[in-house]
Amino acid sequence: MSKDLSIVVNGLKFENPFVIGSGPPGTNKATILKAFKEGWGGVVAKTCSLDASKVHNVAPRYGKLYSRETKEVIGFQNIELISDRSIEDWIKDFKEIKAECPKGILIASIMEEYDKAAWQKLVILCQEAGVDAFELNFSCPHGLPERKMGAAMGENPEIVAEVTKWVTEVATIPVWAKMTPNVTDVNVPAMRAIGSGAHGISLINTILAVIGVDLDTLRPLPTVKGYSTYGGYSAQAVRPIALRHASKLAKALKDASMNNISISGMGGVEKSSDAIEFMLLGSHTVQSCTGPMLQGYKMVHELKAGLEAFMEKHNFTNVSDFVGHSLQYFTTHAHLNELKQGKFEAKEISKDAQWSGENIDKQTNDLATN
Ligand SMILES: Cc1cc2nc3c(=O)[nH]c(=O)nc-3n(C[C@H](O)[C@H](O)[C@H](O)COP(=O)(O)O)c2cc1C
Repeated sequence: MSKDLSIVVNGLKFENPFVIGSGPPGTNKATILKAFKEGWGGVVAKTCSLDASKVHNVAPRYGKLYSRETKEVIGFQNIELISDRSIEDWIKDFKEIKAECPKGILIASIMEEYDKAAWQKLVILCQEAGVDAFELNFSCPHGLPERKMGAAMGENPEIVAEVTKWVTEVATIPVWAKMTPNVTDVNVPAMRAIGSGAHGISLINTILAVIGVDLDTLRPLPTVKGYSTYGGYSAQAVRPIALRHASKLAKALKDASMNNISISGMGGVEKSSDAIEFMLLGSHTVQSCTGPMLQGYKMVHELKAGLEAFMEKHNFTNVSDFVGHSLQYFTTHAHLNELKQGKFEAKEISKDAQWSGENIDKQTNDLATN
């Protein structure tokens, strides 16, 4: 019998926890409908704003980091801005998508300048068009911060709190705030967003990076007319960092008994095993953006099949049965040391996790002698 992969998050029923992350795979009605028809539980549309005439994209705007051995793409950098489509086009698309595909959870990603009236106007327009939820883009790390938008807001907890409040004053649907990882502690702005009424946190947006330098031209990549700018890093190489941020927030929410706040985790999800890791560490839904860019929307078939097999193996009935399950196995380094010395029983910790000191010494020794 096939498993029920659905999950209810902030009152919204996702047919499965897999959501297209804001970016090229959710750039208009055609792409969003394709994602729903392929089986994605939700789509966060490409970020829209009130005045698209201010958005000027450049080309090339992508760069890739390849595995030295397999030539597989392991890291991806972009300097793409938010959507350059007009708000009128987006509103028309949102209405038509909901009419054609009412069960697909459609989330509008929105961004504006530091202007209360503009944010509230954008919220009202999108919610009247029938979207199911909002994701506030406080996190795009390139281009927009030069206009004091995106990560320029997300880096400043005061502004995150203020702008989230503007939104929640007028929003009648769930609001998720999307965090930038380019800060010391993501939990600080995330908690301020929650304090201003956000129902959920999405994390992470891309990590500021330099994908490389062209050794023939001596120019950093991607190169636009001889010059470059720092860009946003994504794909599988960022996953360990994303898992750290998402799990830290989940742990803080759990410790504070804030069980009604949802987490939408992302960063390097390309396979079901990646998505399950995010869920075990507290994410209720899992987004992927670069994954479907590289693999196509059909990627969701493996996500669903892998999740089902995992639930079968561990005898989980519902997806929510295991969200956050692995958070209990984090502790302090000092406690690990006490466990190693046998001061406490380590019965909850799996054999694989119990690397013995002898093995580590042997590995170090092998490195030194090879
Ligand atoms: C080409 C590209 C464009 C993106 N555009 C947006 C955007 O408009 N709004 C947004 O919130 N995030 C945007 N992102 C960030 C992704 O939604 C996501 O947070 C990030 O890429 C990490 O997830 P991933 O490794 O699954 O791609 C973009 C990412 C890429 C690669």
